Amino acid sequence: MARLDDTNNAAQQGRTWGSRFARQPAEAVRAFTASIETDIALYRQDIAGSRAHVRMLAAQEIIPRSQCDALLQGLDQVEQEIAAGALELRDEREDIHTHVEARLAEIIGEEAAGWLHTGRSRNDQVALDTRLYTRDAIDDALVGIPALQTALVELAERNLDVYLPGYTHLQRAQPLLLAHHLLAYFEMLDRDAARFRDARTRVDVLPLGSAALAGAAHPIDREAVAKELGFRAVSANSVDAVADRDYIAEYLAAAAITLVHLSRLSEELVLWSSAEFGFLALDDTHTTGSSIMPQKKNPDIAELARAKSGRVMGHLVALLTTLKGLPLAYNRDLQDDKQGLFDTAATLSGTLHVLATALDGVRFDSARAQAAVDGDPFILATDYADYLVRKGLPFRKAHAVVGELVRRCEAEGKGLAHLTLAELQASHSSFEVDAVGMTARQALAARDVPGGTAPARVRQALADARKRLNAEAQG
Ligand code: ARG
Repeated sequence: MARLDDTNNAAQQGRTWGSRFARQPAEAVRAFTASIETDIALYRQDIAGSRAHVRMLAAQEIIPRSQCDALLQGLDQVEQEIAAGALELRDEREDIHTHVEARLAEIIGEEAAGWLHTGRSRNDQVALDTRLYTRDAIDDALVGIPALQTALVELAERNLDVYLPGYTHLQRAQPLLLAHHLLAYFEMLDRDAARFRDARTRVDVLPLGSAALAGAAHPIDREAVAKELGFRAVSANSVDAVADRDYIAEYLAAAAITLVHLSRLSEELVLWSSAEFGFLALDDTHTTGSSIMPQKKNPDIAELARAKSGRVMGHLVALLTTLKGLPLAYNRDLQDDKQGLFDTAATLSGTLHVLATALDGVRFDSARAQAAVDGDPFILATDYADYLVRKGLPFRKAHAVVGELVRRCEAEGKGLAHLTLAELQASHSSFEVDAVGMTARQALAARDVPGGTAPARVRQALADARKRLNAEAQG
């Protein structure tokens, strides 16, 4: 129950405000407004920001130089205590910023600790912390993405000559080299990484110095703080710097798109490891069993990876919804930006990693995959039509000729490859002996255009993928 008759004693509670209140907040209000259980995850960023701030304040002689060492040592100790799980989290201390400051006061005294918040507000402080966190999360993605791309390239290289049916509408369409199919995901991930790099330039801006909303009223050196924290620029407008979270939204959007790509890859791992497809087997280390059916070997990791995109899309929509219609500048609504951010970082990192190790252990059943092409009666139908085009028929006419052939074959229960020269010529006189019994290898080789599945092109694409990975690693 709320104890509304509590006498107010803000300092004793470790709150940073309170002297203008006659009574303490109700217990339920404390619990409702506190964010420490979530934003404790920002303690490193928060303390790094405080260190840079303190050094700058002392260098600018805004605070007594004599207090600088005590403040820095105290911050070190607070950081160690939090890292060791030794800091008690208390709702009445609201958030990470207040916890650090209150504990600092206990360690170095209220007088010394009282200088820390000079020329800054929790509004620019929290923007700083989440920018630092988001920048780290992006850098983490920019390690995880190339690692998965490398696993894709290696799987492709291990199965360089393997072909399988390519699908449209999940109906067999035309043969593809497996490597070509896998490199499709390489390209998606390449664009994902580019989105993260692009977002990073906008995250990489120092908001500190904006204070509550109007800017600090002391001669602070924002450039020095930016330099210490590795930011490429300082924010140009104090109101914007404390009010917007578009940098988180961009990160969430990039993560959501990446996870959508990963869900498609996961779906193919699920499909292809089924008995119906049987194109690949996941390693035992990356499958799970059933509690009732002794024979089961399930692709749970791929299923879970497939599911993750939903949660992260939700986080993106939740944040955009929070931001929509908010008046400038800071509003407490913004405190709710963190769960989604933290969950997304963990989800993305975990999904990228588990899929990369899963691919490392994939065994591809090339006989089975190639049989799905070679045993299909009509998968080369386009090639028969293309053949006639090369003999001078307009494509639409060629399409119609082959369509009729397909219909006849279907009625007679055979495939295009079984047709004799006489049977082919009965449908069109342009067919010659080289049209009899076309093969998947011929169909693959024919698609010799940039971006096509011809083996020479795919080899080139693999080499190019390797080159791009190396260039990126050199960075
Ligand atoms: N915990 C807050 C957040 O995460 C920090 C800023 C609070 N500012 C304030 N004036 N209440 O957004």
